[in-house]
Amino acid sequence: MKQGLMIMNGWHVRRQRLRLIIVGSLIAVVGLSHWITPIAGDPFHVVHVFLRKLFILPIVLSAIWFEFRGAIIAAAFVTIVYLPHVFLQWSGNLTENVNQLGEVATAWIVALLSGFFVRTEKTALREIVRTHEGSVIALVAALDAREHETELHSLRVRAYALRIGAELAMTSKQMRVLGQASLLHDIGKIGTPDPILLKPGPLTNEEWQTMHRHPEVGRRILLLVSFLKDSAEIVYSHHEHYDGTGYPRALLGEQIPFEARVFAVADAFDALTSDRPYRKRVSCDEARKVIQEDTGKHFDTEAVRAFLRISCTEWERIDREVSAAPEFLGVDSGNDS
Ligand SMILES: [Fe+2]
Repeated sequence: MKQGLMIMNGWHVRRQRLRLIIVGSLIAVVGLSHWITPIAGDPFHVVHVFLRKLFILPIVLSAIWFEFRGAIIAAAFVTIVYLPHVFLQWSGNLTENVNQLGEVATAWIVALLSGFFVRTEKTALREIVRTHEGSVIALVAALDAREHETELHSLRVRAYALRIGAELAMTSKQMRVLGQASLLHDIGKIGTPDPILLKPGPLTNEEWQTMHRHPEVGRRILLLVSFLKDSAEIVYSHHEHYDGTGYPRALLGEQIPFEARVFAVADAFDALTSDRPYRKRVSCDEARKVIQEDTGKHFDTEAVRAFLRISCTEWERIDREVSAAPEFLGVDSGNDS
């Protein structure tokens, strides 16, 4: 299983399960209400007829949530629930039976059409997301290749950040923004000259000033692209510290966007567990200790707590999977289906 998909899977599974319960309950509630509402006499007959129209609702919801196959399965369940009523309670009433079978046919037509259109639309949307992310990943890989020994830094940080985000049960919109911002966090370094960006020794004050401009440059770049606008604020805030000692705005605590606080933990973890020209990597356990000690200073408490709940075995697996198949990481982080 590819990491991008795996990270989102827990979230997707919970959401799909909830949707399944909603659809199943709707079919059951509408079916039961329809059965127990008397078929004769005012206003019962009106209510009875109205209730059977509601069978369309779970079918359309299934099409939206589970696409073509979901719509067909919902239509099949509606048929199973509805037909016994037709033949048991309306037995021998041919005119009404024809009318009722017409309702069943309508349900199937709605299922087929809505399932088909939703599937077509979602396939097109997925293709757009894949194209967007492919372009972003190519841009980020070029930047990573300039600054890091491997172009995998941003992909790994994104995978780590999304894993923490999933642990925090972030919404799909937050996850999308977190994924994009993690990939693009250092995009503003495009504007940092090589002698400063790649300088092996300590930077002068003036060089630091240039370096500290990259969050603002990144923000300006992302604001130019409509599908990346939401990530601009996170990129702008990715060097802020929880205790207000970060840059460029020295934001304090919850003034820092939540996604940026989650990102900070993922970025630090990757920095600590990767070799850099000026120091060797540390083990996962040591990195966890360092991050824990900085809680409330550099890092947000809630984000660190979520990070610490994830084992080193899992972090190492994510690292291996990013290295093995980085191209797959673009697939799912932006899909809000
Ligand atoms: Fe940065």
